[in-house]
Amino acid sequence: MKKLLLHLDTDLVASTFDQAVAYDAGVDNVIAHGGATRDNVTAHVHGMIFTRGGKNLKNSAIFIGGSNVPASDLVGQAVKKAFFGPVRVSVMLDPNGSNTTAAAIARKVMTNYDITGKNVVIMGAGPVGQRTALYLIKEGAAKVTLTCRSMERSKVTVAQMKKAYDVDVVPGETRSDEAVQALLKDAHVAIAAGPAGVCIVPKSSWASSKTLEVIADVNAVPPLGVEGIEVMDNGEQRDGVRFYGAIAIGNFKMKVHRGAIASLFDSNDLFLDETTIYDIACKIDNA
Ligand SMILES: NC(=O)c1ccc[n+]([C@@H]2O[C@H](COP(=O)([O-])OP(=O)(O)OC[C@H]3O[C@@H](n4cnc5c(N)ncnc54)[C@H](OP(=O)(O)O)[C@@H]3O)[C@@H](O)[C@H]2O)c1
Repeated sequence: MKKLLLHLDTDLVASTFDQAVAYDAGVDNVIAHGGATRDNVTAHVHGMIFTRGGKNLKNSAIFIGGSNVPASDLVGQAVKKAFFGPVRVSVMLDPNGSNTTAAAIARKVMTNYDITGKNVVIMGAGPVGQRTALYLIKEGAAKVTLTCRSMERSKVTVAQMKKAYDVDVVPGETRSDEAVQALLKDAHVAIAAGPAGVCIVPKSSWASSKTLEVIADVNAVPPLGVEGIEVMDNGEQRDGVRFYGAIAIGNFKMKVHRGAIASLFDSNDLFLDETTIYDIACKIDNA
């Protein structure tokens, strides 16, 4: 029986990237719909759960994507609501690649590196930064500071994280090079998860730190998020610091994405979201 993936995308046109990854993960046919909202997906979900019964249901699955992460989360809730009892299919939620990317960052940072008790600073408080903070706290980091260019916005973000996941993330503000330098002064790990094409960590900000051990960056568009990093860095050591660049992280992200899609067809009752995609990443070789 063919493996069918219903792709629900909150953007008007369903992501080409996500569809390509689905085929590379072994899906036979992707049924893609753009413009998905919580109000218009029920019929599509019924189309998946009423066409294949019993043990054959595991050959159908749903992927939810889109650049608007909160809207995609609402679609996820609507999809769950359309299921009843055992009449369901497995679902993966990865809006804007946020879950797979953050899982890849966290796993890369922890390559032969014990995060227990470490002081982590994440610059960029979007979905990627937030999820990375969540994973590293759960793995035992002593302190994780999440920053953007406004302390007020950071405070709102960490309060939302406390409510959603019961984790204590420290809010921070990095609107100047001096602020970045001050935060990195006693940090062990620095992660740049800011916008593409913006350097948020100049070399002077990290080179002056006597405690930094690992630096990671997910911005692959020049100028890179960290001055002195290379996109292909995959644990290279310079100035006593280990670096992970955007392409090395991105390559592992692709493995996690494909692995998560493939696992959807193992059973009909998985719900892979920001909490469970990380577990899949932990089972994949991150070399
Ligand atoms: N390599 C890969 O495979 C891969 C995959 C997916 C995404 N990405 C990259 O991951 C990055 C983050 O993605 P996202 O979806 O979380 O992005 P996003 O929603 O655009 O978030 C970016 C965050 O950076 C903050 N920011 C901007 N300037 C800053 C500064 N100077 N200091 C600290 N924070 C700053 C923004 O907050 P304020 O505007 O409030 O300051 C915002 O919180 C992007 O660069 C994206 O391209 C990489």
